Amino acid sequence: MCGIVGYVGPVNGGRDAKTVIIDGLRRLEYRGYDSAGVAVVADGAIELRKKAGKVADLEAEIAARPLDPSNLGIGHTRWATHGGPTDANAHPHVVGKLAVVHNGIIENFAHLKAELAEKGYAFKSDTDTEVAGALLLDTYTSLEGTADSGDLTRAMQLTAQRLEGAFTLLAVHADHPDRIVAARWNSPLVIGTGEGENFLSSDVSGFIEFTRDAVELDNGQVVTVTADGYEVTTFDGEAAEGKPFRVEWDITAAEKGGFNSFMEKEIFDQPAAVRDTLYGRFDEHGALTLDELRIDASVLRSVNKIIIVACGTAAYAGQVARYAIEHWCRIPTEVELAHEFRYRDPIVTEQTLVVAVSQSGETMDTLMAVRHAREQGAKVIAICNTVGASIPREADAVLYTYAGPEIAVASTKAFISQIVAAYLLALYLAQVRGNKYADEIRAIIDELQEMPDKIQQLLDNAAQIQQLGRDLSGSKSVLFLGRHVGFPVALEGALKLKEVAYLHSEGFAAGELKHGPIALVEDGQPVFVIVPSKRSRHNLHAKVVSNIQEVRARGAVTVVIAEEGDHDVEAYANHIIRIPESAGLMQPLLSTVPLQLFACSVAEARGLNVDQPRNLAKSVTVE
Ligand code: AGP
Ligand code: GLU
Repeated sequence: MCGIVGYVGPVNGGRDAKTVIIDGLRRLEYRGYDSAGVAVVADGAIELRKKAGKVADLEAEIAARPLDPSNLGIGHTRWATHGGPTDANAHPHVVGKLAVVHNGIIENFAHLKAELAEKGYAFKSDTDTEVAGALLLDTYTSLEGTADSGDLTRAMQLTAQRLEGAFTLLAVHADHPDRIVAARWNSPLVIGTGEGENFLSSDVSGFIEFTRDAVELDNGQVVTVTADGYEVTTFDGEAAEGKPFRVEWDITAAEKGGFNSFMEKEIFDQPAAVRDTLYGRFDEHGALTLDELRIDASVLRSVNKIIIVACGTAAYAGQVARYAIEHWCRIPTEVELAHEFRYRDPIVTEQTLVVAVSQSGETMDTLMAVRHAREQGAKVIAICNTVGASIPREADAVLYTYAGPEIAVASTKAFISQIVAAYLLALYLAQVRGNKYADEIRAIIDELQEMPDKIQQLLDNAAQIQQLGRDLSGSKSVLFLGRHVGFPVALEGALKLKEVAYLHSEGFAAGELKHGPIALVEDGQPVFVIVPSKRSRHNLHAKVVSNIQEVRARGAVTVVIAEEGDHDVEAYANHIIRIPESAGLMQPLLSTVPLQLFACSVAEARGLNVDQPRNLAKSVTVE
């Protein structure tokens, strides 16, 4: 989620590390942006500068307190997960003679922290990263007097073996001014190879200005990088290899990871966004532990109504979540547009739980709804993607989505992670209130854990949908139909198309069709239909198949989103988009993806600015 840069040049001469690193951080700032820092090794000591805020704030700090010239350093732009965006929590973290930067989440940090505290480590920050740094120092120290004494690479291998979760971890040591050692697990890391100098970065944009030759590392690898080369091993110390490649993109494209737009990149980020949102939320027995909730279990047990407040896409995520909450927890749940909430004089009591869903955490309408709910005595939980934003600050508790920064105005990965976070909240309520047995909850969590791979399968087939987007880009209007959880997905599909392609589009509950909207269907009208699984209850599948027939009979061009192996839809579909099989409530995490890709490619085909659609802003801070 964050951006990492490392630079190692020749010990005497070469470029100045801080300049290279700051340049890289500026280009990586899109990955994370709440604080930044740099550590260099100069004259046998670590020098550190770090600051909450933008990279520009870090530059101002360095201008005020200059760093010595150096051949070696590491830097970071942070997107906080553990601990607020403060100077102390910014990376790098210095422990003893070591400095570390980290991208990701160390799931077992609490356990390791307790273990290290017992050994006498005093922590200066709230981050999981400092714990990883302290563990590295402890491991390095424990090698003294052995054959591996002073071997930073060995210490990193042993440390990586003990860390759980997701991490790219880079370390420098004051006694080793010629090397950076790094480990990678479920977080990105690439090496940039230059002439007598080498680079490390979260992605190639961190060093593209200096070299286009790169090496991708695999999960479970450790690399030791010096000015003259690099050596890759597994966490066990076995020799291994990275995958060399040449970067063909220019600097602007590199920031978008080679994609045409941030929206497209963020659609492709979704497997990671779901994985990261699930990380660190289970104890060693697999039970959900939403530590950050800080609301007493007895309060959660007394809840007799839930109201989800949100706007736009976040409200559609809430609509999806309502089906799961009511089904799993048996608590009556309403979803209300935040800007309508207070004006209808809602019935809110101390037993009401209000869930405010917001990517930015700054949407004024939602913030006002939060204030209103709290004034009425309700407890408020925020589901938010931005650590330390106003909505989580004013709520009683927060459940963060770890989707990483969302740059495109049109929300994609935030939507998918909001559904995942809301599902976790629902399962937690079911656990606390005893609505479900532990093994039932575990089975649903297992299904959630399978979703990143299933989303990836869909993305591997993106070309089909992108072509469809180009083919239908001349349409005057597009309709979307869905039932049950497919209904809010239809609404979201229509909103995406309006927002980025300026195309008239409407989403309907498929059952509502015959009550009016079917009059809109004429020859050539594109209609997307989201088909529930054949295993869904109440014979919903057959009903939706009938709906496809009804619009097809009136001349519609039908685009059918259906599970693999669902042959019933074939006779009535002009186009079929296949999605992997899943449990009914999981389907929105899949069926939304083609709709996002479709909107993005229609907008591109129409020559529009996909990331910054006209009249819209990423964060709507006015009522
Ligand atoms: C989504 O594509 C939109 N840009 C918009 O509907 C957005 O979801 C809404 O404004 C809510 O924003 P928030 O999640 O930051 O509160
Ligand atoms: N978990 C770390 C933190 O909260 C790293 C977050 C990141 O990837 O920026 O500081």
